[in-house]
Formats: sequence, C-alpha cells, structure tokens
Amino acid sequence: MANILVLHGPNLNLLGTREPGIYGHDTLDSINAELAARATAAGHTFDAFQSNSEAELVDRIQAARADGTAFILINPAAFTHTSVAMRDAMAAVALPFIEVHLSNPHRREPFRHTSYFSDLAEGVVAGFGATSYQFALEAAIRRLAAAQPH
Ligand code: DQA
Repeated sequence: MANILVLHGPNLNLLGTREPGIYGHDTLDSINAELAARATAAGHTFDAFQSNSEAELVDRIQAARADGTAFILINPAAFTHTSVAMRDAMAAVALPFIEVHLSNPHRREPFRHTSYFSDLAEGVVAGFGATSYQFALEAAIRRLAAAQPH
C-alpha cells in the first residue's frame, strides 16, 4: 500500500466549463473520484489537491515529503511553463512523479512547448483529455508494484 498524491494547478478547478473544446467536459471532481476509485481498488490511498496559488502548491509539494506520499501525479497547468519554484520543490522532495496534461502542449502555442518539470519526471502523459490522468495512474501503480519487495 502506498499514498498517491495528485496535484492540479491553476484554472483546473474550472474543468467542465473551461474551453471544453481543448480540455473536455469532465469536472475536476469527477476526475478525482475516478482516480480515487482506481487507486483504492489497487490497494493504495489517494489524495488530491488543486490550487490557483503557486505558493500553496509549493507548500503542498513540501508537505508530501513528510506525509508518506510515495508517488505524485502533477498537472502544473500554466505553471508548467513558468514555475522554477515548483520545479525546485519537486526536486527537493525527490519523490517519483508523472507530469500530466489534458491537452498536448506540443500541438499548441510555442510558449507551451517548454516544461520546467519534464526532465525531472518519470514520464509525461499528455493529449488524452481526462484519460491522461488515468494512464498516468496506471503507470504509477505499475511502478509502485515493481518497487515492492516480494
Ligand atoms: C494544461 C496545459 C497548459 O499549457 C495549460 O496552461 C493548462 C492546462 C493541460 O492540462 O493541458 O492550464 O496543463
């Protein structure tokens, strides 16, 4: 059993109504509920946190070191392309993580092509809408199973 944490960056609280042509119709609550169900079925505990504030996200990342989090899924949203502070926090806690995006930033504006997280991540899942989170969770579950002593 491990604790899995999913972090959602700014404006992802608006999912469902926010540019549905790009981000789909699923709400953040429905995404989190599906993730929680799958993580729990795999024998893990699950926590989700969304903030529009860079400082709150940095604080939550730092807290993950002390609260027993074993794996992080993170969609830093716009902070993907700007936040050295969140990158430094992820490097500091040194927990394995997967970067997740609903859209494929590489198909979009050039300013979205840079990520401060990808080179630290175990992997990146992007472009599959809400299913990106599900794919990332499956990968995390496999990594955690592979890491377990037999
Ligand atoms: C996003 C992509 C980012 O470029 C954007 O700023 C977001 C959402 C995605 O999930 O596709 O807010 O991270």
